[in-house]
Amino acid sequence: MPKTKTRFVCQNCGAESAKWLGRCPSCNEWNSFVEEVVVKENSRHQELPSGLSLKPVSISRVEFSDQKRIDTLSSELNRTLGGGIIPGSVILLGGEPGIGKSTLALQLALRIKNIKTLYISGEESTEQIKLRANRLGKNNENCHILCETSLDRIITSLEDFNPGLVIIDSIQTLFAEYIESTPGSVSQIRECTSRLLKYAKTTGIPIILIGHIVKDGSLAGPKVLEHMVDTVLQFEGDRQYLYRILRATKNRFGSTSELGIFEMLSEGLNEVLNPSEILISHSEEILSGISVAATINGIRPYLIETQALVSSAVYGMPQRSSTGFDLRRLNMLLAVLEKRAGFRLASKDVFLNIAGGIKVDDPAIDLPITAAILSSNADVAIPRKYCLAGEISLSGEIRPVYRVDQRIAEADKLGFTKIIISKANQKNLIKTSKNIKVDFIAKIEQLPKILFG
Ligand code: TYD
Ligand code: MG
Repeated sequence: MPKTKTRFVCQNCGAESAKWLGRCPSCNEWNSFVEEVVVKENSRHQELPSGLSLKPVSISRVEFSDQKRIDTLSSELNRTLGGGIIPGSVILLGGEPGIGKSTLALQLALRIKNIKTLYISGEESTEQIKLRANRLGKNNENCHILCETSLDRIITSLEDFNPGLVIIDSIQTLFAEYIESTPGSVSQIRECTSRLLKYAKTTGIPIILIGHIVKDGSLAGPKVLEHMVDTVLQFEGDRQYLYRILRATKNRFGSTSELGIFEMLSEGLNEVLNPSEILISHSEEILSGISVAATINGIRPYLIETQALVSSAVYGMPQRSSTGFDLRRLNMLLAVLEKRAGFRLASKDVFLNIAGGIKVDDPAIDLPITAAILSSNADVAIPRKYCLAGEISLSGEIRPVYRVDQRIAEADKLGFTKIIISKANQKNLIKTSKNIKVDFIAKIEQLPKILFG
């Protein structure tokens, strides 16, 4: 076992100390000191890959070989990664417990048949993994399983086994023996990641690290973990619902605006290639309080149903509740409706829901949400083939949205006959198809007339 020196580092501001301190003298944070391994100065020099010249090179002379990406055989995963897995890259897959990270990773390992994959689990036994594989209905001679948590033993077995793709479930269960702190602590995570990173970079074997998310939504472990890896994928969604969104929050080899959509079925995760078709209902009955939003998530347009229910408040305090949309923003929209359009909603309960439990951040959803509220309040249904996109300002003005042509094209593709967008979008509009009519709106007070005539 190598002899190592340690020091204590404040996880808040990075201050160092030779001994543990209860409170950081530099940033005054309590209980932020964690023991970390000191990397010997001369070992740093050895880290330089051999053959790497120290002479600066003109960028025009650098020879670029388009590295061959590993096809994940999932178009949603490929899309999120920017086209596949780059050899030697380290990908961090984060998400809340039970969201489906292990399922996604195991499905990937089972699907890739032409390279040897190694799934290392520190959380489940081989029988449990086999049970899961059976549930997924897949088998693959080239998918290997190892249950191990010791970093040294993992690296040794990787060197012996020489796989083509490694999955580690999860980074929080690994530990290096020469560090005293428990698995999952900052220094363990940091040390394990940095050794795995070195392994990936020197051998060219890509590694997928699964990471848990702590309560506040950030990845457990220091921010440095995100800095160290090449790609950070976040797997998110509401566990009560089927839909899951895979988003790249960092990607050295691709764009971070792409995302993948999956649904969790009893036989595993299924790709959702055309989200619009399932996020809007196809029932024949036309109900009030429903409107369709033409939204964009990342750079991907899709149509999604927003549902509102407005009813008389039974108690003195009207209730406001919202799923998939910021409650404060809902209160703001109600205040704008009250002030600018003269709707008396103060004595009404308002409930809002976005289909599929999907959280939408696109500001263009303001207008469809307002339309759903107005429709429920008046108990008049919005025609089925109408959709909307627009941001609402405090003055009641409808602000333009970006990528409006893509939104119109998506609505047209799904057979919508009318889309209502901001008047400010009119001048930049590229000629649209004949099948869809584009209506423009400048102020919130015009909305009832446009919707209900
Ligand atoms: P899991 O991949 O274990 O989540 P994580 O690794 O992110 O903690 O999956 C968790 C949930 O998914 C579990 O509650 C059961 C459900 N599930 C299905 O619905 N269908 C399936 O085929 C599988 C394998 C899991
Ligand atoms: Mg898991």
